[in-house]
Amino acid sequence: MKIGMDKIGFFTPPTYVDMVELAKVRDVDPNKYLIGIGQEKMSIASNNYDAVAMAANAAQAILTEEDKEQIDMILFATESGVDQSKSGATWVHDLVGIQPFVRSVELKQACYSATAGLQLAMGHIALHPESKVLLLASDIAKYGLNTGGEPTQGAGAVAILLSAEPRILEIEKESATYTEDIDDFWRPNYSELAFVDGKYSNEAYLNTLKASWGRYKDQQHANLSDFEALVFHVPYTKMGRKALQALEDEMTEEVTERFNTYYESAIRYNKTVGNIYTGSLYLSLLSLLEQADELPSDARIGLFSYGSGAVGEFFIGKVQAGYKDYLQTTAHEAQLNNRHKLSIEEYEDLLTHPVEVDEAGNASFTASEVISKEDFIFMAVREHRRQYGKMNEYAGQGE
Ligand code: COA
Repeated sequence: MKIGMDKIGFFTPPTYVDMVELAKVRDVDPNKYLIGIGQEKMSIASNNYDAVAMAANAAQAILTEEDKEQIDMILFATESGVDQSKSGATWVHDLVGIQPFVRSVELKQACYSATAGLQLAMGHIALHPESKVLLLASDIAKYGLNTGGEPTQGAGAVAILLSAEPRILEIEKESATYTEDIDDFWRPNYSELAFVDGKYSNEAYLNTLKASWGRYKDQQHANLSDFEALVFHVPYTKMGRKALQALEDEMTEEVTERFNTYYESAIRYNKTVGNIYTGSLYLSLLSLLEQADELPSDARIGLFSYGSGAVGEFFIGKVQAGYKDYLQTTAHEAQLNNRHKLSIEEYEDLLTHPVEVDEAGNASFTASEVISKEDFIFMAVREHRRQYGKMNEYAGQGE
């Protein structure tokens, strides 16, 4: 039985920062951001778009009424969780209207946890072939103003519907996973912003890639030429280039050229969205599937997932014949092209004004002017309870 991705949805907030403008204000050569880091734009979430709202929007774009009846597991991968106890999956379950007999849970291991979710879903569907699993990967990457990580921020969510007989990508059951306790990137409970040892995190990423791929290669007697393309976790698009370079001595010239060509398609979305942590690998996969010419059916794509701390996994997706018919390419391109550019002052104002809850447990904030009335948004906090809904429900909730 084939198990894998039947649908893939994507959402990013409707506001972004232009990297050239940011570079100028930070007195940095724009080519450092454009070429050295490899980012052109970076999505910025206003207070209305937290990890839950973004995930609900990514999910609503792909689910039919029939899917909502068949989903029996919701896995919410994030490192931007909004509650220490309750999972983001429970809110999304309610917002998009999924039937009640569902297992809902949140998963955490930095940028890796969506891949853990994918593997849990695979096992679940193998036991219950009629099931559908909704996998959500939603994050806001926030390092703060004037930090080394500032040009590698971003915000967005990917929603994947997993099932038997998938129409987009079959996931093979063999994979190689690697864990090592290190401090390359972390966010203690008391901090809004992530701590990062940037150079060390790059090194750790590449070491984990070599360890995971090495293990897969030895166990499966595999060779990089077995794959049509490679897709990586992309915290910023230069990182994937470093990953390709790190494997280059195992590739022929022809394979190097093929992987590099596909890589350009695989980073088109990431270049203009920025880092979305758990969703970054899957955004890059989506970008490859939507932006490259149709891949041959049964082509095998090697995927590398990395989450600081650190866990990595190398696994394989097999392209299904006619997959392009099940993607939402036009809608995704429109979403990215129709965003509103923030001035650097507006961006700095957003980053320095998080939602503040008063002593009674209430918070109100003004809705951003560019919210679509179709979007789920975070509207207010009432007696410590977060309120979500659409714009037409905003009256009486916000200011
Ligand atoms: N034109 C072209 N390239 C330029 C340039 C210019 N004018 N100026 C600098 N560069 C290049 C550098 O040569 C370097 O390239 P390299 O990585 O291939 O060596 C790159 O731009 C980055 O410059 P660097 O001085 O190393 O940047 P930095 O000290 O600001 O740190 C990160 C970059 C990515 C480490 C930092 O943004 C960060 O900590 N990000 C968050 C952590 C992260 O995403 N880690 C990834 C693993 S999970």
